[in-house]
Amino acid sequence: MSINFSDETNGEIITTTASLPEDNSEGSLRPRSINEYIGQEKAKNNLSIFINAAKMRGEPLDHVLLHGPPGLGKTTLAAVIANEMGVNMRITSGPAIEKPGDLVAMLTNLNEGDILFVDEIHRLNRAYEEILYPAMEDYAIDIILGKGPSANSIHLDLPHFTLIGATTRSGQLTAPLRDRFGVSLRLELYSPEELTRIVVRSAGILNVEIDPEGAYEIASRSRGTPRIANRLLRRVRDYAQVRADGVITKPVADMALSSLEVDKMGLDALDRRMLRSIIQYYNGGPVGLETLAATINEEAVTLEDVYEPYLLQHGFLTRTPRGRCVTRKAYEHLGIEYMGQQQMDF
Ligand code: ADE
Repeated sequence: MSINFSDETNGEIITTTASLPEDNSEGSLRPRSINEYIGQEKAKNNLSIFINAAKMRGEPLDHVLLHGPPGLGKTTLAAVIANEMGVNMRITSGPAIEKPGDLVAMLTNLNEGDILFVDEIHRLNRAYEEILYPAMEDYAIDIILGKGPSANSIHLDLPHFTLIGATTRSGQLTAPLRDRFGVSLRLELYSPEELTRIVVRSAGILNVEIDPEGAYEIASRSRGTPRIANRLLRRVRDYAQVRADGVITKPVADMALSSLEVDKMGLDALDRRMLRSIIQYYNGGPVGLETLAATINEEAVTLEDVYEPYLLQHGFLTRTPRGRCVTRKAYEHLGIEYMGQQQMDF
C-alpha cells in the first residue's frame, strides 16, 4: 500500500520501560519482569517460550495482540515483554494517530528490535491500518511524496520491530490486521487469590501494613481487576490511617469498602443501578444495550467493556439475542423479590 506523505507529522511519545503513562498513580506498583507479574499463567507461559525462542534466534519477537477487559494489565504486560527482550518500547494509541504521517513517524523512528505498543488498536483509522500491513509483514513502507504527475514514490525499509496491539474489543479488528499478529493472547479476569497476592505485593511497595484477611477482603471486592484492587487498596489505606491504627485488617477493609459503596460481591453503585434499572423498567429484561445505556445515562461501550464482563462472569446478567436480562441471583443480591421469568426469551 502507498501512503501520501504530504502531511506534517506530529511529535511522538517515546517511552522506555522505565516510565509508562499512569506512572504517577500506579507506575511504582507495576511489575517489571515475568516473574514479578502475578496471574495470567496461560499467557505468561506461552510468552516465556516465545520470548526465549526469539532471544535464542537473535530475532525480534513476533507481533503480539493482547485482548481482554480494561484494567487487566495489557500495558504492563507489554512493558514486561520489552524488559524481558531487553528492548525499548514506544507507546501510542489508535485514537492518538490522527493522520498517516503520525504512524509513519512512529515506525521510521524505531530502532532495531524495538517494540511499538499501540493501545486501543481497534480505534485506529481503517485507512491508516493499511500502512501497518507491509510494515508488519515485510518491515517496509512505500510513501508517495507530492501529488499528480510530479508525485514520487519512495520505498522505506524499517528496522525489524515488534508491534504489540492492545484492545478491549478484538472483534472490531479487521481480519487482515488480526491475521498479521503471530501471537494472540486473551487476558482473563483475575481470581480473588491472584488479586490477594497483588494486593499484598502492592501494600509492601506502598509500605502499608496489611493482614491476609484484609488483603483478601479488598481482592474479593475488586471485580477481578488489578487496577481496581490497587485503587481500592489506596483508599482503604486512607481509612486505616484516619479511622484505625493504620493496619488494614478485614474489619477495616470492610468498613472502608462499604463507605465507598463497594458491596460484598464487589459491585459498585453503577453495577447495581444497571441491574436495578433492568428490573424496574424492563421487568428483568431483555433490554437492548443502547436502550439501557440511555436509561441510566451512561455510554453503551462503557457498560459493555467495563461493567458487563464481571456481571456476566458472576451470573448477575445474561446476554440474549434480544438484549440483556438479569438473573435470579441479581434479584437476590439486590434484595428484590423474584417473581419468576416475566417474558420467555425464545
Ligand atoms: N500490579 C498490577 N497488575 C499486576 C500483576 N499482574 N502482577 C503484579 N502486580 C501487578
